[in-house]
Amino acid sequence: MELAKVGSLVDCCIGIVVVEEIMGGFWKLRSNNSWRKNVSFLMSVGLLLLFLCQLSLATVHHQRISGSAGDVLEDNPIGRLKVFVYELPGRYNKKWLKRDPRCLTHMFAAEEFVHDFLLKSPVRTLDPEEADWFYTPVYTTCDLTPNGLPLPFKSPRVMRSAISYISMYWPFWNRTEGGDHFFVVPHDFGACFHYQEENAIERGILPVLKRATLVQTFGQNHHVCLKEGSIVIPPYAPPEKMQSRFIPPSTPRSIFVYFRGLFYDIGNDPEGGYYARGARAAVWENFKDNPLFDISTQHTSTYYEDMQRAIFCLCPLGWAPWSPRLVEGVIFGCIPVIIADDIVLPFADAIPWEKIGVFVPEKEVHNLDKILSLISLEQVLEKQKLLANPAIKQAMLFSQPTLPGDAFHQILNGLARKLPHDPHIYLKPGQRVLNWSEGHKKDLKPW
Ligand SMILES: *[C@@H]1O[C@H](CO)[C@@H](O)[C@H](O)[C@H]1NC(C)=O
Ligand SMILES: *[C@@H]1O[C@H](CO)[C@@H](O)[C@H](O)[C@H]1NC(C)=O
Repeated sequence: MELAKVGSLVDCCIGIVVVEEIMGGFWKLRSNNSWRKNVSFLMSVGLLLLFLCQLSLATVHHQRISGSAGDVLEDNPIGRLKVFVYELPGRYNKKWLKRDPRCLTHMFAAEEFVHDFLLKSPVRTLDPEEADWFYTPVYTTCDLTPNGLPLPFKSPRVMRSAISYISMYWPFWNRTEGGDHFFVVPHDFGACFHYQEENAIERGILPVLKRATLVQTFGQNHHVCLKEGSIVIPPYAPPEKMQSRFIPPSTPRSIFVYFRGLFYDIGNDPEGGYYARGARAAVWENFKDNPLFDISTQHTSTYYEDMQRAIFCLCPLGWAPWSPRLVEGVIFGCIPVIIADDIVLPFADAIPWEKIGVFVPEKEVHNLDKILSLISLEQVLEKQKLLANPAIKQAMLFSQPTLPGDAFHQILNGLARKLPHDPHIYLKPGQRVLNWSEGHKKDLKPW
């Protein structure tokens, strides 16, 4: 960074710190609604200054991120691993897609795009003998209701059938019973194959996948649906659609906190308390009248633009801990406020989430206004600077066509980092470890 820029940055930061001090005072005094207008006004002044600071930072976002996490973000996986792609009958993948092309646009579409990507990727090998990893393209989230919601009920049978198929026609599955195979399972609770958490927990990971590596959107520590060694990926959010909606980066961020989405899911949780473990309800109850919070259930055609006008974007859990808001926040430079205890974020070994996001424990939601107002300007700027880094944005996207460092490449990086395989994964000839009659009765029926 040039010295002059550092100077102007420091000046303007001091300015904001002063305003912040004043605002802090107002916060303490604020006990009735008459103060709110003043707070809002001062906040606006602060935001304006903040925006000026951002301008001076515009030139610094190309530097490589340092620190333990960021160091591997720009790794190039090509040449570090070879992947064999099984060829399956269309009934496991392409036929589903043909029946309902909406599978290419919903938030689980990584499943289809990873397949397409691997077929064309230089990491693909046609010689399975030299493969480090084996990939079985099953589209488990492409069985949609008329409303476009994926039903995971057939997935376990489809998956068992596909594995039985590859183990019959090729010798590689039996060598390790999946130890060097990976599967993309992007549904709510991954290979637990149920959208309700209680049921997902009760089911657990499909037994025939116990030795395989899972590439999944679901990430939560100490949870039966996240196996150690899994690769957590971002949900699919349409790259071109988002990129076509960029507004000038100089646009001031005049919204303090932004959120659009459900607070209650009356249909599936009429009594309340299960959905989002009550955290979204708490956001609404506590902040619906707070002028710093632009929150509502209303869909708006300016959703993407609004995120670019906001400083903080709430990313609370819903039924699952993750949602596309995380990706949208990163793409649109809106600091993600993650309200989902124990969440494991995508590519957490490559992306410094702790530095980028704000993590608010679910039980602290009622203090959200105080927590966010107390974040120092320096911290906000640092987070915005990281968010402005194109490498971080790229890693969140399944780009079409693919680009270096995008989500596909991060998946490959994750797989490459797991090499070489532990020799213990290889079974003795004839040795069997998996129990094929384990699991739910319904899942055991042939498909
Ligand atoms: C793999 O093992 C299964 C079950 O033991 C067996 O039925 C199958 O024929 C084996 N596959 C190959 C290719 O040998
Ligand atoms: C496999 O699982 C089934 C169902 O849980 C169980 O009844 C059976 O005893 C298991 N077989 C072995 C060899 O552990």
